[in-house]
Amino acid sequence: MGKKLLLDKAHVEGIRYYDVYRREGGYRSVEKALKMAPADIVEEVKKSGLRGRGGAGFPTGLKWSFIAKPEGVPRHLVCNADESEPGTFKDRYLMEFIPHILIEGMIVSSFALGSNVSYIYIRGEYAWIVDILEQAIAEAKQNGFLGKNILGTGFDCEIYVHRGAGAYICGEETALIESLEGKRGNPRIKPPFPAVKGAWERPTVVNNVETIAAVVPIINDGGDEYAKIGIGKSTGTKLMSACGNINKPGVYEIDMTISVEEFIYSDEYCGGIPKGRKLKACIPGGSSVPILPANLLLTTAKGEKD
Ligand SMILES: Cc1cc2nc3c(=O)[nH]c(=O)nc-3n(C[C@H](O)[C@H](O)[C@H](O)COP(=O)(O)O)c2cc1C
Repeated sequence: MGKKLLLDKAHVEGIRYYDVYRREGGYRSVEKALKMAPADIVEEVKKSGLRGRGGAGFPTGLKWSFIAKPEGVPRHLVCNADESEPGTFKDRYLMEFIPHILIEGMIVSSFALGSNVSYIYIRGEYAWIVDILEQAIAEAKQNGFLGKNILGTGFDCEIYVHRGAGAYICGEETALIESLEGKRGNPRIKPPFPAVKGAWERPTVVNNVETIAAVVPIINDGGDEYAKIGIGKSTGTKLMSACGNINKPGVYEIDMTISVEEFIYSDEYCGGIPKGRKLKACIPGGSSVPILPANLLLTTAKGEKD
């Protein structure tokens, strides 16, 4: 059984609600982070080796360190919950079942980046998840984790959920920022990069839902512990949306040492191909990546039917 950092509590009854989430250890990372210097949080994320889970795999700590100085200038954290890649639904799963882990990660990340007003930009089709997130935000606020003077530290933070109108391109971070500002979602020419001139011309960091949620275990356990999981530069755990002709479609949390073959055939994950049929190909990352034919991913003959 692989180690789970994000979905370990996913099956606890009522985990969607603050009381249960908190009872299970939720919001500890906020209590810890708000006693740290923001630069030390960035350092911890750098040590973890966490790379963005939105597709490009850019190192998160490094991205955070680009946020334009000087201190005191308003800046924003924007969570990219556009998730429009066909066959991808891991961010939806996280937000639907454990919304508080995203809110917790948003608070810690907002503090590290100096964002007092942060946003979750969510694809319009995820309408019911907007309600779930807004309830989680309201609960966090009622319990002193959002709003003014969080935990008496003097840090103020609000999180707003902004619905897109359903355009794939709005997942691209500069198009997303245009759309967040109320304009047509056309990508901007870079540079300037969002870290210098982003939402409302302020320094902005855009991170994926899963990236922001991963900040929670990184702060709880330390960047070094996180970096022990995985392989090479792919540290930590990864959420995988699995669908198509497999026995057990769903969202799984893996560590990145396992092969695509093991992921498809293991009973812990996809459980193989229905009716013993032969694997022909796999699309490993939504429709934006090349198709992996069976001969490139199978290391052992499976003895299946055509
Ligand atoms: C056409 C296009 C669509 C994208 N769609 C998404 C998306 O739905 N969700 C996402 O997180 N990133 C998406 N990205 C990547 C974002 O531009 C950006 O790199 C990412 O949100 C950064 O977060 P990360 O560093 O945490 O990965 C897309 C990029 C392109 C070019």
